[in-house]
Amino acid sequence: MTAQPTTTDVIDDLFAPLTVTSVDHDTDDSVIVTFDHRPVTDHDFTFDHGQHLTLRRTFDGVEIRRSYSICSAAPSGDLRVAIKRIDGGVFSTWANTELRAGDIVDVMAPSGHFGHRLETDAARRYTLLAAGSGITPIFSIAATILASEPRAHVTLLYVNRTSQSTMLLDELHDLRDRHLDRFVVHFAFTREETGGALLTGRPDRVRLDDLVRHGFLPADVDHAFLCGPIELIEEAAQALVAAGLDQGSVHREIFTTNQMGTVSLAPQAITETSVAVATGRATLHGRATQFDLYEGDTVLDAVQRVRPDAPFSCRSGVCSTCQAVVRGGSVEMEVNYGLSDDEVARGYVLTCQSRPTTDHVDLDYDA
Ligand code: FES
Repeated sequence: MTAQPTTTDVIDDLFAPLTVTSVDHDTDDSVIVTFDHRPVTDHDFTFDHGQHLTLRRTFDGVEIRRSYSICSAAPSGDLRVAIKRIDGGVFSTWANTELRAGDIVDVMAPSGHFGHRLETDAARRYTLLAAGSGITPIFSIAATILASEPRAHVTLLYVNRTSQSTMLLDELHDLRDRHLDRFVVHFAFTREETGGALLTGRPDRVRLDDLVRHGFLPADVDHAFLCGPIELIEEAAQALVAAGLDQGSVHREIFTTNQMGTVSLAPQAITETSVAVATGRATLHGRATQFDLYEGDTVLDAVQRVRPDAPFSCRSGVCSTCQAVVRGGSVEMEVNYGLSDDEVARGYVLTCQSRPTTDHVDLDYDA
């Protein structure tokens, strides 16, 4: 008889223990962490540009998960993330002060869809915009495009407070030196004089229109990839679309600051007074499980109660680790920073932000 997996086995199926091969200091408050994934054969760590890793560690008995974008060219296969220390951020502080080469960290296989289909023969033009640590997926996107589409041209506008706080600066200079005729980087600083009025100070909508007009953020491109705080990214998207770029060619990822403290990851406890509001069925790793939803539950909460292997990370609608397709019934998302309009049209939802609007919902995590 085959032994049934225990709950712990099932959860641990999501994560693989990877060895840290290096922790390199980038800025004063960020590190680049590289993992060796090659000895791990039961998890697939190949990745696409723009994807992220979810890391897991327990602090004082509380499990913390954090998502960090991979910051290397996809064809290289190099699994590395940049981690900026956030004030009060338990995980990021630990990574910046205590993590060392040789340590083991639990890592979930790459996920996320902040990328596009590459075409080797295409002579496409790209606009990239990154603010602060939003550079991590954008760097992967730039490096992957330049490596995979030899005729592509890429323009990056990179906004930071000061030159000292600029992440991946050496990597960007290296990338530019290797692709001088195809890769242009403009650095803008909000708290440092750069010599150019357009590239100094906060880029509000008026300035973004000027940046588009003057070619720092070109709109006559095939694709734009934007990553940073929501206000900047939304205004930049508006400026690009107003200048003629098709809405469907603008890809966005919102930078989250939800990296604080040790918030409990467990769903609410069900008591005699809990009110059931709907039922559900979740298919995950080829196995379907029935569940009940109670007042106050998100879909993720309810699924997690019966399927501890349900994937999630940020629980704030950003990382898209928790996504599933609705096969029956319907749900409403509170916020959605992680899915594109196209994915939503195809039935994808962020389960951490979803509440049922029908008596029964049927979800497929394997889609
Ligand atoms: S867990 Fe990150 S979007 Fe749901």
